[in-house]
Amino acid sequence: MALVTVKELLDKAQKGAYAVGAFNCNNMEIVQAIVRAAEEEESPVIIQASQGAIKYAGLPFIVGLVKVAAENTKIPVALHLDHGTSFNQIVQCIRSGFTSVMYDGSKHALEENIATTKLVVEIAKAVGVSTEAELGKIGGTEDDITVSEKDALLTDPEEARYFVEQTNVDSLAVAIGTAHGQYKFEPELDFVRLDKIRKIVDVPIVLHGSSGVPSDDLVKAISLGVCKVNIDTNIREAFVRGVQKVVKEKPEEIDPRKILGPARDEMTAIIREKIRIFGSSGKA
Ligand code: G3H
Ligand code: 13P
Ligand code: ZN
Repeated sequence: MALVTVKELLDKAQKGAYAVGAFNCNNMEIVQAIVRAAEEEESPVIIQASQGAIKYAGLPFIVGLVKVAAENTKIPVALHLDHGTSFNQIVQCIRSGFTSVMYDGSKHALEENIATTKLVVEIAKAVGVSTEAELGKIGGTEDDITVSEKDALLTDPEEARYFVEQTNVDSLAVAIGTAHGQYKFEPELDFVRLDKIRKIVDVPIVLHGSSGVPSDDLVKAISLGVCKVNIDTNIREAFVRGVQKVVKEKPEEIDPRKILGPARDEMTAIIREKIRIFGSSGKA
């Protein structure tokens, strides 16, 4: 079927109290693994591309791969720009067929973040594209910051209410203690903060940096209003695991299909596992 919007998927998820997985792609094998996993779980799915992915594969390839994947399956698939920071690139993505875009203005001061988010929301809504914005700073696990510094970066609930009211954005990524990449220690999520945000913000909440978050915490976050869960690192780990296994067991192997095929299987397995945790199996 044709690509659907993220808003459509998240509105249903919010009503049904589950979350839709948003999985990052960079190449054909990853796109195939995401769609295959979603098909096997009969789950809706969001395929997202970062600016880095677009730089690596090229915008026409990302759009082409995801469109073909969507057209050849019965499950609903959305194509989303992850952490867009350039207004020009956001417009290019919309024009190329993305059905959802994230503007990440979290590095900017509140009013500047609001101003650009508002502009993105206005142009996206005009052509039926969904939007996501970020408030608070979701860093990387390698960021060397103290606990008090970390607390200052988390999303302020009252500010979140004001931000959504001002921008009219469709979904909001919040900082509640998760980080991008591989965690050195188990993350401590601020569920009290999430609950406060949920009570005064009615749009679907997005959780970034979710790969290293324990399953129970993911389930709890979803019960407190998270409707979109972003996963990239788990896919990277599975890809490398698959490749390394073949290279180690058959160092003489030179057929890329026999190296990338097992990597694709590893990725499919972990994506299926995540989809089950998110509660979206059978919701396609
Ligand atoms: O949020 C970050 C995603 O993992 C994308 O990472 O910018 O290296 O593609 P990337
Ligand atoms: P992970 O690094 O935890 O997979 O997070 C991915 C992400 O948030 C993409 O936006
Ligand atoms: Zn992210």
